[in-house]
Amino acid sequence: MLYITPSCFLVGFLVGLAPANSAIVPGRVFDRFISIWLENQDFVEVIKDPDFAHLKRRGILQTRYYANTHPSQPNYLASVAGDYFGLNHDERVRVPDNVSTIVDLLDTRGISWGGYFEHMPGPGYLADFSLDAHGAWDYVKKHNHFASFDSINKNGTRLTQLRSFDAFRRHLAAGTVPQFVMMSPDMLNDGHNTTLAYATKWAREFLLPILEDTRAHSLWKERTVIQLTYDESDDYGKPNRIASLLLGTGLPESLKGTEDGTFTTHYSVLATAQNNWDLPTLGRYDAGANVFQFAADVTGHVNRDPPNLATLDNSLSYAGFFHNGTAADRLPIPPPNLKLAGAGGKGVLPQVASTWEAFAGDRSPYDGGGAVYDGKAIPVYKPQE
Ligand SMILES: *[C@@H]1O[C@H](CO)[C@@H](O)[C@H](O)[C@H]1NC(C)=O
Ligand SMILES: *[C@@H]1O[C@H](CO)[C@@H](O)[C@H](O)[C@H]1NC(C)=O
Ligand SMILES: *[C@@H]1O[C@H](CO)[C@@H](O)[C@H](O)[C@H]1NC(C)=O
Ligand SMILES: *[C@@H]1O[C@H](CO)[C@@H](O)[C@H](O)[C@H]1NC(C)=O
Repeated sequence: MLYITPSCFLVGFLVGLAPANSAIVPGRVFDRFISIWLENQDFVEVIKDPDFAHLKRRGILQTRYYANTHPSQPNYLASVAGDYFGLNHDERVRVPDNVSTIVDLLDTRGISWGGYFEHMPGPGYLADFSLDAHGAWDYVKKHNHFASFDSINKNGTRLTQLRSFDAFRRHLAAGTVPQFVMMSPDMLNDGHNTTLAYATKWAREFLLPILEDTRAHSLWKERTVIQLTYDESDDYGKPNRIASLLLGTGLPESLKGTEDGTFTTHYSVLATAQNNWDLPTLGRYDAGANVFQFAADVTGHVNRDPPNLATLDNSLSYAGFFHNGTAADRLPIPPPNLKLAGAGGKGVLPQVASTWEAFAGDRSPYDGGGAVYDGKAIPVYKPQE
């Protein structure tokens, strides 16, 4: 009789978790997007760094890229959900499952996705942090873009898409890296507990072999864009300007080594994915956010500066569901604006429309106009139209 031990069972289970070699869904401009997030640096400092400058020669430097607020965590959440819901701290939050994310959008077209977080102990790990061999925090949930969303963490299929860098290396070797990827190095390599130079040296050493990978199964068999960016600036006293560098074969050769001054924020990750893969919108700040210019150039999408550019600061969170201030700072999760169309040329995701149907007559802060809000330029709630 075959006796299956619990550990055999676990191994079988984990092997079964390798991403299905599902068909690539081609984008209008690129087929794969990988965003790697470093921590807490100002644009003006990053561009002086020699390792960053070395990588810059191979890509497009986005020179007007702004994080959404401080501290770290709200920026990670904003990039996949189109709002940070007033979050102004790094403590544990659970975003209710009536809030949709990029994952729901990608699912409409069967586009594979994943999150890789260095030293995340395993798929399904939902604690706030894990400790390294010296007892220091290593992986942290606040730098995991996806894990705080109940629409992801209550769903086993989705939870198993959140893995460690070891899994990334395996998927890279096997040619199974998904089409939409968010990645965070650990607390040392992302610069959080180290220095700007430590993190850019890590980034150079991590990225060069990948950029130069000539294996048949490399990322480059499809048009891939890698974004190296920061969650937020270091200086809380100035507008939240960060550096973002785009690399890879998804970019036109002619743009390598250039700079792009289009106004961009973390919401642009959502708008760019929607524009590239003809996806619906979440009906939040993703609608109206600019699309990465190299992609907009191909699709004909028209970008513009925010109408309230003069008040841009993005340093202080506005009131909202997760704000830890007074009762006046806490607001319900706003209804998405069900009348919006996004950069994918489509309306609101049907699942979002049905979840929020009863609130279609309520005022919403999202108007698709691309205005940027923070604790000083406070969101304006208007009828949905
Ligand atoms: C809210 O979070 C901020 C940032 O982490 C912290 O400085 C502040 O003490 C917190 N306020 C409360 C009332 O917990
Ligand atoms: C990083 O710093 C935090 C305090 O901000 C500390 O709790 C943590 O253990 C440190 N992690 C590492 C890997 O040094
Ligand atoms: C769970 O995730 C899968 C894959 O993303 C999705 O197809 C399914 O609809 C989700 N289930 C629920 C209940 O959200
Ligand atoms: C969404 O979930 C939050 C938290 O459970 C709840 O307060 C809110 O009423 C829900 N909204 C809708 C439209 O279901």
